[in-house]
Amino acid sequence: MGNVLELNRLTKHFREQVALESLDLTIPEGEFFSLLGPSGCGKTTTLRLIAGFEEPTEGEVWLRGRRLNGLRPYERNVSTVFQSYALFPHLTARENIEFGLRHRAGGWRADAPQRVRAVMEMLQIADKAERKPAQLSGGEKQRVALARSLVVEPDVLLLDEPLSALDPNLRKQVRAELKALQRRVGITFLFITHDQEEALSLSDRIAVLNAGRLEQVGTPQDLYLRPKTRFAAGFLGPVNWINGVGVRPEATRVMHERPSEEVRALPATVENAVFLGNCIHVEARLATGEQVVAEVSRLNGTFRHGEQVHVWWREADELAL
Ligand SMILES: Nc1ncnc2c1ncn2[C@@H]1O[C@H](COP(=O)(O)OP(=O)(O)OP(=O)(O)O)[C@@H](O)[C@H]1O
Ligand SMILES: [Mg+2]
Repeated sequence: MGNVLELNRLTKHFREQVALESLDLTIPEGEFFSLLGPSGCGKTTTLRLIAGFEEPTEGEVWLRGRRLNGLRPYERNVSTVFQSYALFPHLTARENIEFGLRHRAGGWRADAPQRVRAVMEMLQIADKAERKPAQLSGGEKQRVALARSLVVEPDVLLLDEPLSALDPNLRKQVRAELKALQRRVGITFLFITHDQEEALSLSDRIAVLNAGRLEQVGTPQDLYLRPKTRFAAGFLGPVNWINGVGVRPEATRVMHERPSEEVRALPATVENAVFLGNCIHVEARLATGEQVVAEVSRLNGTFRHGEQVHVWWREADELAL
């Protein structure tokens, strides 16, 4: 299986504003790929360049070996799920889903009604087919938007923060459904998020963007455990920077007794300890004045404000930037 999507030095400037600078990415068939980064880092711009809503200042977009530059959005076999869903309020769920097929060259074929029904059944919205968007819940609207994008069988499905409009509980549920759906349909997903947990839990690979530039690409494990830059390390989750060494909170050990002579333990004072059920969140202040946070097993005992403790970690758990 080859690559579906290739971005080649893709660049977008809006006057003096650099939205995206020389992005190179290669995404293979069937991958769940996420673009992760803070607000304004160029995620939506990347997606709009692929979909054809913007033309690049420089660089190229290739889809299955075909150069897309200059082609109209409907001439590119990609579809987009927007954050706001962008459903037509005057059309029913079914008509919204049919819309994509009707407005694509060669889209409305004899089997179109069956395809629409199949995708509605897969997303469990068949019983909502004749409702207007205003009569649907947030999660149902989200599924209609997904159905509308999937029914055209795009080479790549672009998703711009599709879960952000959902409340936190529903968000977790839809997140799991989205992953299962992607496995089932086998379509390449290019998913945008600024939520590290979402990116880690869904993606085969993640690209971290920072101010229009690619910071690092890798699997969730690569990025979390082997970040190449301080920015990537910090964006994927909290880090204790102790004497310039990065250690994740769950790899940071806090104990009352001094550990064995072989490990280098730093004396610290507990400033705050919160029982979270599955672990204890401990904030401690080192003698050097640096603050560290640790997720400690409750089996290590209890911790109280003002207690003297020892902070240590395994060398193997240090982030080597
Ligand atoms: N049409 C435009 N004209 C001028 N500047 C723009 C335009 N579109 C985007 N930008 C700028 O380009 C940069 C990247 O914007 P983009 O929308 O890609 O960010 P983003 O990563 O999607 O952010 P968010 O997480 O907030 O959605 C921002 O600084 C933005 O202000
Ligand atoms: Mg955006």
